[in-house]
Amino acid sequence: MAELQEVQITEEKPLLPGQTPEAAKTHSVETPYGSVTFTVYGTPKPKRPAILTYHDVGLNYKSCFQPLFQFEDMQEIIQNFVRVHVDAPGMEEGAPVFPLGYQYPSLDQLADMIPCVLQYLNFSTIIGVGVGAGAYILARYALNHPDTVEGLVLINIDPNAKGWMDWAAHKEELSGNSELIQKYRNIITHAPNLDNIELYWNSYNNRRDLNFERGGDITLRCPVMLVVGDQAPHEDAVVECNSKLDPTQTSFLKMADSGGQPQLTQPGKLTEAFKYFLQGMGYMASSCMTRLSRSRTASLTSAASVDGNRSRSRTLSQSSESGTLSSGPPGHTMEVSC
Ligand code: BEZ
Repeated sequence: MAELQEVQITEEKPLLPGQTPEAAKTHSVETPYGSVTFTVYGTPKPKRPAILTYHDVGLNYKSCFQPLFQFEDMQEIIQNFVRVHVDAPGMEEGAPVFPLGYQYPSLDQLADMIPCVLQYLNFSTIIGVGVGAGAYILARYALNHPDTVEGLVLINIDPNAKGWMDWAAHKEELSGNSELIQKYRNIITHAPNLDNIELYWNSYNNRRDLNFERGGDITLRCPVMLVVGDQAPHEDAVVECNSKLDPTQTSFLKMADSGGQPQLTQPGKLTEAFKYFLQGMGYMASSCMTRLSRSRTASLTSAASVDGNRSRSRTLSQSSESGTLSSGPPGHTMEVSC
């Protein structure tokens, strides 16, 4: 493995009212495929995996995950974990534009950079949270290093090589017109590293099939929460992905009113689903939570247990009018309201 080198430190983290500062430290390491930058928040917790995020094309770790990780209810969860937010090469703030002819890493190579990050930090296991291209990268990493992945939250994953679904997704994304879409479109159009973004985009479009097979050898062996926006461009791809994974290990969360980037538009609902996901893995026991979230969870769980044999796979579905969110342990479908 290439020599690991730290090249920069410390960045400011905006605080929520009443929140105590948590150190954020940015590092870069050399890998066989070039340098990769990542930012670590919090301190390692004994016997707990790190939460490792990977962002989508057109974003960096901050623009992709800040609304979720700085969401108020999320604080209670993430204070129990160290977080490692990876920026794809050339996407970190202030990244210089790559020289003409630069060979950007493939998504598989981006996944192969992750062991260098973990080795540098001396972290042995992770819970991965990825969006779009980042979800693909984390899934590829999990296929190659199953022993190091305790769980995966995969938002908008498309495990297939580029095909007609991308065409449909692109078309629908262009037709979206909400304020948030406009805001992010504006950020991307005016990004100083637009040429770098195009390179990441090209790698995404040249991805190969992950070749998941239900019951076959190529599958994710850890608990997985698949997330997609209701009627979002990636819906068909995520539904198909769900059909190929182990139903006893996989939860599927379809979110109403969330558009193409649920982590930006529905951080509250995603936070709640994430909490149940972690609880299903044996983390975040209700005794660790505030009285308010404990009583809420208890009532949700008892409502759910009535309906324990409805489905073999875990389905988390949520609707905006009732605010219903469903979750549960492997092999069960649970309905919860929020
Ligand atoms: C975190 O606390 O992990 C975090 C803070 C700001 C942006 C992204 C993540």
